[in-house]
This record gives sequence, C-alpha cells and structure tokens, in this order.
Amino acid sequence: MAAASHDPVHAPAAPAPQVLVAANRGPLSYALDADGTLTARRGGGGLVSGLSSALAERPGSLWVCAALGEGDREAVRRGVSEPGVRMLDIDPSVYDDAYNGIANSVLWFTHHGLYDIPREPVFDAEFRRRWESYRAYNQAFADALAAAAGEGAAVLIQDYHLSLAPGLLRAARPDLRIGHFTHTPWASADQLAMLPADVREELYRGMLGADVLGFHTSDWAAAFTAGAEGAGGLGRTRVAVHPLGVDGDELRALAHRPEVDEKLAALRAEVGSCRTVLRVDRTELSKNIVRGLLAYRELLVTRPEWRGRVVHLASAYPSRQDLAVYRDYTAAVAALAAEINAEFGTAGWQPVHVSVKDDFARSLAAYRLADVALVNPVRDGMNLVAKEIPVVSEAGCALVLSTGAGAYEELAADALCVNPYDVSATAVALHEALSMPAGERADRTKRLAAAAVALPPAAWFAAQLSGLLPS
Ligand code: G6P
Repeated sequence: MAAASHDPVHAPAAPAPQVLVAANRGPLSYALDADGTLTARRGGGGLVSGLSSALAERPGSLWVCAALGEGDREAVRRGVSEPGVRMLDIDPSVYDDAYNGIANSVLWFTHHGLYDIPREPVFDAEFRRRWESYRAYNQAFADALAAAAGEGAAVLIQDYHLSLAPGLLRAARPDLRIGHFTHTPWASADQLAMLPADVREELYRGMLGADVLGFHTSDWAAAFTAGAEGAGGLGRTRVAVHPLGVDGDELRALAHRPEVDEKLAALRAEVGSCRTVLRVDRTELSKNIVRGLLAYRELLVTRPEWRGRVVHLASAYPSRQDLAVYRDYTAAVAALAAEINAEFGTAGWQPVHVSVKDDFARSLAAYRLADVALVNPVRDGMNLVAKEIPVVSEAGCALVLSTGAGAYEELAADALCVNPYDVSATAVALHEALSMPAGERADRTKRLAAAAVALPPAAWFAAQLSGLLPS
C-alpha cells in the first residue's frame, strides 16, 4: 500500500477512487523491548485477518488505526510504520477510557449480551467521563480521515470502537462516501434500551452518518434496522449484509508451509492415537470456553468409553488483559482445564491440552488434524475459525456450532448445531461428532468448506466498496 495523497485525483478517465479504512487495530502492533528494539506483531481477531488480506490486493489504500500501546507510540515517534498505515497517537488516558472503558466494557458487552445483570451495567459519572473520551477518540479518527481523504474518496470505517466516527466525519466532509462495517453482532432493542437514552441516540446518529452500514448476517442487520426505526428511522443510510468468508487458496497454502508440517508432526506425537476435539479462540467471554469445557467434562462422565481415547486441544490465547473481567475469565478457563485433567487424567493420558500462545502455525496444524471442532460462542459477529477449519481439514472435521455464531447463518445445514447455554446438549453433540462415520464427516466438511469460501476477504471488501460508489 502506498501512502494516500492529500490531493484529489484529477485524471481524464474515471480514476480509481481513493480508499481509506479506519479501524482501532492496525495490521501490525509494535512491542518495545527493554533494549529499545521495536518488534512488529500481527494482531488477532477476524477484523485484522479479513482486512489485511483484502487490502493486500488494493494498492494505494490508507489504513488509519490507533497506537495501541507504548510500542506503537514509540513507533509513531520514530516514524516507523508500514507503508499505507497511519497510526494515531491518541492521549493514553483518553485511549484507555475509550478502548477499555467504553468499547470493550460497554459496547462489546451490550452487543454480545455479556452483562452480569444484578451488578452491571452501572451508568454513573465515571461512565460519562469515559464516554467523553470515546467521543474524543472518534473525533481524532474523523479529523485524521478528513485531513487525509481527497475529494469524493471512499472511507470504510470498521467496528464498534468507531460508532460515532461516521457522523463526525460526515459533518466535516459531506463530499465523502462513508461506509461502516460492524464485525460484532448488533444488540437487540431490549439490550440497547439499557444504555442511557441520549447515549443510545448519539450512537445511532453516529452510525447513521454513513451512506452504507454493513453487517455479517441478516440477523444483525435486522437488529440494527429495528433499533434505528425506534430512533427516527434509517433516513438516507442503506443497510447491507456481507458475510466475511476465507480465502481458501491462501489459507491452504499457509497451512502447508514446512513450519506447519513440523507443528503437525509434533501434534501427532502429542495426541498419539486419540481422537481430537479442537477449539481456537481469543480468551474472550463471548466465546463461551468455560461451558465448552463443562460439556467436554460431561462427555467424559456420560460416555466413559471416550476416556483415554480423545484429547481436547484448546487454544485460548490471551486477549484484553487490561480488563479484570478478562483476567478472571482466563484464570477460570485454566482452572477448569486443570480440574478436568486432575479428575480424569491417567499416567498415559491428559484429557485437555490448553495452549495459551497465539501460534497461528500450530492452529493451522491442528485444523489439519482435528476430528471435531467446537465453536460454541454465546454470540459472535461471524467466527472465522468455524470457516477456516473445514477449508484446511485433511480427512474431514465435524463442526459443533453454536446457534449464536454469525457463521450459523451459512453453515447450519452441515454442522451439529447447539444452544450455547445447553452444556448437556453440547456434550451429546460432541459424542455424535466423534462418532460420525468418516464418509459423512468428509462430505459435510466439503460442503462447509464451499460455504466458507463464498465471500473471501477481497470480494467482501469489494462488495462494501461497490455498495458505496456510483455504478
Ligand atoms: C473482534 C473485534 C475486532 C478486534 C478483535 C480483537 O474480532 O470485532 O475489532 O480487533 O476482536 O480484539 P482486540 O481488542 O484485541 O483488538
């Protein structure tokens, strides 16, 4: 990607539109080592993986993102950055209030229905202070986009961190074509009704500054539309559904690198002749990892024939550890896994293998090998893991899939679908998945893989853009 120009493009033929994207997380984040070295690292989550591969095919675009921590701030100060990426060095306390205090503690919880209702949420003076920071953070993005965008440029704003940015940008630059894409679910009207009325209205006003609002599923789009109707209607804004998929060729190529072959050999040695149940997630409350482990434990209790014959590979890498509720959840996952191992493990068999490292090569190796994938979020915007596993699987992998995952809309027919709260039903589904005849497993996996590659990132991105530009 080349740095975007500040000047409008004046060309006789229809010029390719200048494209800017805005997302809290950039394609890379920097860690500052004790000796002052900056090490770049790719971020986790579906947004970065989808956008990174889409933008790789679109030279000339600019990705505006926030400096996430000290490493990124130092990179901004030293002028170190990827071409086509502009990091905003927002005041650290404003950033912390906006990212941890509002985006991840209020909006994420509201859209995923994660509140522990007898205690939360509490909208008090502290909340109002943080909301001011959320506004300032959105304004910083709107200002940077307004300054970088040429006349009539297309701007694609991503996710719940930037719900106010479309409206703020529209006010500054009415000439721009503004899209917003939500990677999470959209809360139901009841869930959104918990927010103070003026905050809820501000949220809708911000979103409705966009020309087009994109969602992964028709359910999330319908929830937005229903809520907007209560808040005065959609007006000129259109709502579109673009379910992000995976790039099958790219993913299979990644999964067959020598590094992954080595990890696969190591995994084979680790699991021996046992069947495998795989899950791969950020350690994230919405992913429902604890109930997944409870279901696996119930499987070992109700179906003792699996003892010694199955291994649960749970990759749960750390996420959002600034928030106590995430640290507690991470500890609860580790404690329950240890409990299951203590209860059922033998000298030659460890029932749960937890890996807390974000090791994509190991995950790809596990995708190739797994017999069963467990994807049981309480609610999830899409869940790309559910799409990646069937694409990479070698002999076929039975998918146990929550009805709360966005991917359910496209994958339900060939998955074993479960209510994410129903631990016993999930245990039964795990048993059925483990017992599925090899031929059926392979057939279902082929159909799941075909559905998973229906809208790869480049096409997903192009669909957002073409919805924004005049035909
Ligand atoms: C989800 C969100 C993304 C976010 C990712 C990782 O996929 O939709 O916007 O980047 O989680 O979370 P983090 O807080 O680490 O960026």
